[in-house]
Amino acid sequence: MIIVPASSSLGLAAKVANKMGATLAEVERKRFPDGEMYVRILSEVRGGEVAVIGNTRSDADFVELLLLLNAAREAGSSSVTAVVPYFGYSRQHMIYKPGEPISSKVMTRSIENFSDRIICVEIHDEETIGFASHQFKNLSLIRTSSEYFRDREIDLILSPDDGGYDRAKKMAEILSIPAYYIDKKRIDAKTVEMHLPKVDFSGKSVLIVDDIISTGGTIIKAVKLLKDNGASRISVSAVHGVFAKDSDRIIEPLVDLLAVSDSIDGDHSLISVAGDISRALSGDE
Ligand code: R5P
Repeated sequence: MIIVPASSSLGLAAKVANKMGATLAEVERKRFPDGEMYVRILSEVRGGEVAVIGNTRSDADFVELLLLLNAAREAGSSSVTAVVPYFGYSRQHMIYKPGEPISSKVMTRSIENFSDRIICVEIHDEETIGFASHQFKNLSLIRTSSEYFRDREIDLILSPDDGGYDRAKKMAEILSIPAYYIDKKRIDAKTVEMHLPKVDFSGKSVLIVDDIISTGGTIIKAVKLLKDNGASRISVSAVHGVFAKDSDRIIEPLVDLLAVSDSIDGDHSLISVAGDISRALSGDE
């Protein structure tokens, strides 16, 4: 297998290549004078199975991923897998207001146009997978995340909403601790009300888990509620640390531990998706 790294996933691609004993391809990247992106795979990929690893966190990341997928195919690879650790745009998986696109459908159809299969990690909504006509695998990071917290003395797990409760419950089962969720109600576009479950949090070490941290608004509210209710230690974890507007800088001083995965590489990427991706690529799950 040949791993082609997109610039959004350089560290992760190197880890995956290392774990699999695969070749890490060399890629040339530059901008044309008019600002358009140029990529070129410098390593030989003819006849080989290629996996391009790159997320779609930004518009530029998306363009680079498509260009690399096409480059791999045009260069004569035998198969091309698109590994999209963080599948951006998946939160718009339906039409909320008339006139909107279904963004996650656009992303899926575009990516599969240039690849034979897609692998992603904990996509925001599984509905997106139904938009694909080829193989589209959504990897769960529940086991890997749970193992990260095994020896970190967590008393209970809390999901910031009922949508994430299933995930919290599965992690809690692995760690043999209880799980709860916050009752989150949207009042209007700007106001969200959150109520803790009726549990005694005082003196407890609580782990809040979510699929994604973006503006951090959800997590910050949850952390404040827990502090007001006497939690002694607060750890926060999510699969994808988007950290829009550097929200990690606001969250970090409020909590004891902030750990996200390297689906988006950053300062808090303490949990790696490399093992799960390597196993999926080698069909060894
Ligand atoms: C909501 O459905 C998600 O699970 C996250 O809780 C949400 O997307 C986080 O967004 P933010 O960090 O902007 O509150």
